[in-house]
Amino acid sequence: MEISNRLKAIASFVMYKTIADIGTDHGYIPCFLALNKRINKAVACDINKGPLNKAESNINNYALNGIIETRLGNGLEPLKQNEVDTIIIAGMGGILICDILKKGIKKINTAKQIVLQPQRDIADVRKTIHNIGFFIHDEALIFEGGKYYNIISALKGKESYNNDEISYVFGKKLIDKKAPVLKDYVLSEINKYNNIISKTNKNDESINYIKHKLCLAKEVLDIYEMP
Ligand SMILES: C[S@@+](CC[C@H](N)C(=O)[O-])C[C@H]1O[C@@H](n2cnc3c(N)ncnc32)[C@H](O)[C@@H]1O
Repeated sequence: MEISNRLKAIASFVMYKTIADIGTDHGYIPCFLALNKRINKAVACDINKGPLNKAESNINNYALNGIIETRLGNGLEPLKQNEVDTIIIAGMGGILICDILKKGIKKINTAKQIVLQPQRDIADVRKTIHNIGFFIHDEALIFEGGKYYNIISALKGKESYNNDEISYVFGKKLIDKKAPVLKDYVLSEINKYNNIISKTNKNDESINYIKHKLCLAKEVLDIYEMP
């Protein structure tokens, strides 16, 4: 089964044999993991029947019905406590992911690992991970089809980046390992902010915000230039 590099990176972070995939859509993640014998049970959930039908058809085509079960419902509602060790939530906005995590906190607390791939508002997701009693154990940043995708794996345990904004915005794990793709991302952000600033003569709150983001990006770039 061929899947995108983004989905492969999400799958590569899965550490346990039982998973839930929230917002499964096509069901590619559980199918890929089951076909590669990385899991022995998956609960594939989606709020919409259309996507769940797609997942069911893929599960049938690969004869994975004995391993993957589909369930219709909002966020973690279709899942029971203690049912799976890894919970994956990928391909959704960060604010929606935070909301799903907070509303489903009892089920999150009975899992060992969460793997998240927010499309935006990544800093909010990192803060929420810390607020619900997990620590960020690894991160990846993938560039595919002209877009950057953050993938975060978190395990149970206390952690805070305190007031270190660049760690929340750009990802402490990525900064610490000086991930080459993060440098590309930071350079593209600097370019974008400089363009916005050069094309405006406004000096309001929105421009101050862009200038602040530019400073943060430059701070990360400085770390790459350190020996
Ligand atoms: C863009 S797709 C991502 C599919 C897959 N997880 C991936 O990363 O490729 C988002 C999926 O999340 C589902 N979804 C949106 N809100 C949801 C919610 N609150 N609970 C469960 N699923 C949701 C949508 O129906 C859709 O199938």
